Amino acid sequence: MLLRTIVAVRGGRLLRCLSERLPAPDVVVERVRPSEGAWDRILRKGGDVIVVSESLIPDPLERSISLLNDLPEIPTSVVITQSSSPQTHADLLACGCDTVLYAALPEDQLVDAIDATIENRRQLVSRTLVDHGAGHRPKLADFVSEGPTMQMFMQVVRRVVPSSATLLLLGETGVGKEHLARAIHAESPRSGGPFVAINCAALPEQLLESELFGHEEGAFTGATRSRRGAFELAHGGTLFLDEIGEMPLHLQAKLLRVLQDFEVRRVGSERGVEVDVRVMAASNRSLKDESEAHRFRQDLYYRLSVIELVVPPLRDRPEDIPALAGGFLARIGPKIGIDVRSIAADAMEKLCQYDWPGNVRELSNVLERAMLLCEGDQITLDDLPVSITGARPNSHASSAPFTADQWRGKTLHEVTAAAIEQVERAYLEMLLGETGGRVGDTARRAGIHPRGLYNKMRRHRLRKEDFRRR
Ligand SMILES: Nc1ncnc2c1ncn2[C@@H]1O[C@H](COP(=O)(O)OP(=O)(O)OP(=O)(O)O)[C@@H](O)[C@H]1O
Ligand SMILES: [Mg+2]
Repeated sequence: MLLRTIVAVRGGRLLRCLSERLPAPDVVVERVRPSEGAWDRILRKGGDVIVVSESLIPDPLERSISLLNDLPEIPTSVVITQSSSPQTHADLLACGCDTVLYAALPEDQLVDAIDATIENRRQLVSRTLVDHGAGHRPKLADFVSEGPTMQMFMQVVRRVVPSSATLLLLGETGVGKEHLARAIHAESPRSGGPFVAINCAALPEQLLESELFGHEEGAFTGATRSRRGAFELAHGGTLFLDEIGEMPLHLQAKLLRVLQDFEVRRVGSERGVEVDVRVMAASNRSLKDESEAHRFRQDLYYRLSVIELVVPPLRDRPEDIPALAGGFLARIGPKIGIDVRSIAADAMEKLCQYDWPGNVRELSNVLERAMLLCEGDQITLDDLPVSITGARPNSHASSAPFTADQWRGKTLHEVTAAAIEQVERAYLEMLLGETGGRVGDTARRAGIHPRGLYNKMRRHRLRKEDFRRR
C-alpha cells in the first residue's frame, strides 16, 4: 500500500530534511502550510502518518487529537513540541498522540525517529491488509487436474504466477475466477502485499471511479475529505477487478491510461503517483464479443487480453469431480459440524453426469445441502437434488407436510395457499442453489421477471448471498 505522510511543521530546515529523506517507493509526502487552518486541512486530507508541530493543534488538545484518531485511516501521529518537559510529553501521549519529539533535537535525529514511525506503520498496514485468517485460503492445488483439459490450463497458470503481468480471467459463472486470482496472488512473489478486490458491477460510476483511483477533498459534491483508491491500497500487491465488462466506457479509458504507465491520479488532483500493482481482471462474458459490439473498449480489451486464462467449465472435466467433491466434504464438514466422509458410487456417478451450469459453486452448494440431509456418514442418491439424480420427487417426502392433521380447521383456500407457498419456496431454493444465487439467471429459468423474483425471495426470506457463499 502507498503510505501517505502529511507534514505540517514550523521550521524550514526540518521541512526540507523531511521532504528529502522520507519519500520511498511506498511513501508519498504531502506538505500542509503551517498557517491558520492547518489542522482543519490535515483532518480533511487524512493520511497514514501525520507529522505536525504542537502549536498547529488547536485547543483543547485532547479533543483535536481524538478527531484525528477518529479518521477512517486512524493515522499514526507524530507531534513535535518546543517543550523539553517530560510532563508535556507525557500529557501529549495521554491525549492519544503516538509519538512525541522534542523540536530542539538535531534534524537528523528527528528524521530518523519519524522514519522509524513510518516503518512501524508499514508493518501494521501489512499485518492488517494481508489476510492471515485461519479460514480456507485459495491455493493452486485446489484446482484439481485429473485430465488433460485442466492439466493444460494449469500449466499455463503456473507459468504466469511469478510475473507481474496483467491477467484476464474468463469463464462461466462459478468456475472459480476469483478463487484462481487469489491463489495466483498467494503463490506469487507479491503474496506479502495486499490483495484488493473491486466489483465493477456493484457501484455507480462516480463511486467506482473514486473507489479505484481515490479522490481529493472537494473533487465532487459530498467529497468532504480526500480518500485513497484501490490502486494505492493495492500497492505492492494485486488488484482484482471483477466483472470488468460492466465498467462504464469513460472509466475504461482512465483504466487503460493507468495500465500503460502505472501512474494514478486521484479524482480532482493534478498530481499522479506511481503504483506497483499487478492487475487481474475477470468477466463471465466474452470481452471479445463485448468489444466487437462496442460495449467494451477495444484498446482496453487488447491491453488486458495479453494473457487470457479461460477457466474450463465443470461439465468439460467430469474427471475432476470426485477429487473436487472430496475436497469440499473435508472443508465443509468442520464448518457445519457434520462429519460425512464419502459419496456412494451411484451418487458419484450422477454428480459426474450432471452438466453443472453453476459450476464449482453449484457443486459446493449441492454437497453442503447433501451433507445436511445425509443420515449416515455417506452421501447417497436420496441426498442429492432431483435435478441431478433425474429421479421423480419422492412422493412420501413431498406429501408429508400436507397431512389431514394440518388441514383440519382450515379453509380450502388456506390449505392450497400454504401448499403453493411451500412448493414455491422449495422450487426457488433449488433454482437459486443451481445458479449460485444469480437473480437474473434464476428469474429467466423460472420464467418470471427479476423484480417479481426479488419480491418472492423477500417473502420467503431467501437471500442470494446464502446461495453464493455456501
Ligand atoms: N478449485 C476450487 N476449489 C475449491 N473451491 C473453489 C474452487 N473453485 C471455486 N471454488 C469456490 O467456488 C465458489 C465460486 O468461485 P468464484 O467466486 O471464484 O467463481 P467465479 O468464477 O468468480 O464466479 P462468478 O463469475 O459468478 O463471479 C467460491 O466459493 C470458491 O471459493
Ligand atoms: Mg467472481
